[in-house]
Order: sequence, then structure tokens, then C-alpha cells
Amino acid sequence: MAIWASTNQRDLPWRRTRDPWAVLVAEVMLQQTQVVRVIPKWEAFLRAFPAPPACGAADLAEVLDLWHGLGYPRRGRNLWLTAQRCVEHHGGRLPTRLEDLMDLPGIGPYTARAVAVFADEQHHGVVDTNIARVLARVGGHRLTPSRAQRLADELVPEGWPWLWNQALMDIGASYCRPTPTCDECPLRRSCRWWQRGRPDPDPAIGTAHSSGRQSRFEGSDRQGRGRLLAAMRVTAVARSDLAESAGWPNDPQRAQRVVEGLVCDGLVTRVGDRYHLG
Ligand code: ADE
Repeated sequence: MAIWASTNQRDLPWRRTRDPWAVLVAEVMLQQTQVVRVIPKWEAFLRAFPAPPACGAADLAEVLDLWHGLGYPRRGRNLWLTAQRCVEHHGGRLPTRLEDLMDLPGIGPYTARAVAVFADEQHHGVVDTNIARVLARVGGHRLTPSRAQRLADELVPEGWPWLWNQALMDIGASYCRPTPTCDECPLRRSCRWWQRGRPDPDPAIGTAHSSGRQSRFEGSDRQGRGRLLAAMRVTAVARSDLAESAGWPNDPQRAQRVVEGLVCDGLVTRVGDRYHLG
């Protein structure tokens, strides 16, 4: 496996750094967006904000502008809040201890472990959707979140946490997909599910973290939120234009409700009867 991993690894820019901030930005972006679309966004974000102090000192509108196209702007705002907390409490650097990381806005057990492993080579298992699927099949049964984490931690080979976790991510992304291609998978001989002839039910189904598909975007509130934020990147939007900007010209009440959600999330501010980013 170590040989497979070191020779078959995808060459991704965040794999060439051990800078915790750069790793964090990558992990947050990768939670929602495909690798190929993340690469240019990650590069641009780090050019603008190479370390937490630059990000924390920026206006939220600048951060959201760089976030545009990634979706889930609340995650961008959390990164900005995290940058400020790093300046206030951690000397301007992102910490790498799990408990310090998990104290920061928007950083949960997955993201904290990803930073600890990929920036600091700590000995943890990282469990995201893809890895949970691999673990369930290799182990041969459905896993609860705590069993998935325990199994992930147990399997990490001494001295290889970084390579091991990245390799599991690659296997989950390349072979052990929801519809798997086991014939090419380097883990198949140690995979219980494969050894048994891949019986139904697939143990990955219903396993921790393997949440169902994301709900439909077309026609959703999320689509209207995205349209409103895109309009506000250009200029503040008057209350009377909200419905048009949200793409619901006949439903001003819906637009009003959605903009109030954006205000509540700290992404948008109202000044008089106009709404602007930040
Ligand atoms: N998805 C989440 N983290 C990743 C990483 N480090 N490499 C590739 N895909 C990922």
C-alpha cells in the first residue's frame, strides 16, 4: 500500500505544502467543491491571504468575493472569523492541536484531523465521506461515526499518517466510488466485502458520513441566496429589487425571507433600504 500510495498519488497543490493555513483553506473548499474547481480558487485565495493576519484584516466582502463560485459562503465567513481568532489567540498562526482547532469557527472533527495530519503529520485517521465508504467495505460492515473513527485511527500505519490518509482519499475518489471498480483497487485483497464476493447490502450504504445526495439546487433557496450574493458583489441591492435579483420576480416575500437569512448569517448588512455584502 505504501508503495502504491507513493507512486500513484494525485499531484495536488495542497499536497506540496505543510502550512496549516493553506491546508485548512483546501480542506474547507474541498468539502463542497470538486478538486479541479478548487485548485484555481485555492491558489487565488492564498495569493490574497497567504496567512491568517491578511485574511482577518480584510473586509468580509473581499473574502466572499474570492469565495464566489464555491458555494456555501458561510464557510468562507467562518474562515475569516477563524483568521481573526488566530490573530487574537494564536500569534497569527493556525494551531495544529485538535482541541485548539475544534475551538475555531466552522472546524469540526473532520477538518481538525485533516489539518493535524496533512500539516503536522499527526497520527490520526481522517474520516470524510470517501474514506468512510472505503472503511466500511474493507471492514465488511456498516459503521457508526464513532466506529468509523476508531477503525480509521487503528489502521493508520506507524510513521505514515500523511501518506496513508491521502491514499485512502485517492482510493475513495478513484476506485472505491459509490459504484466501485474493485478490479483495479489496490486494497481489494484486504477488503472483506470483496473477499466475500461483494454481497448485498453494500456496507457503505448507511455508513457514517455517507449522507445522501445533496438536495436539488435548481429552484432552491440556496440558488436564490447565491443570486443575491452575486448581485451584491456588483453593488448594493435595494429592497425593491430583491425579488428580481433573487430570480423570483413574483415572490418578493420569499426574497425578503432569504435575505433576512443572509443578514442573520452575518454575510449581508442592511443600510437604510439597501443590502450589501459583509
Ligand atoms: N478531499 C478532501 N481533502 C482532500 C485532499 N487532501 N486531497 C484530495 N481530495 C481531498
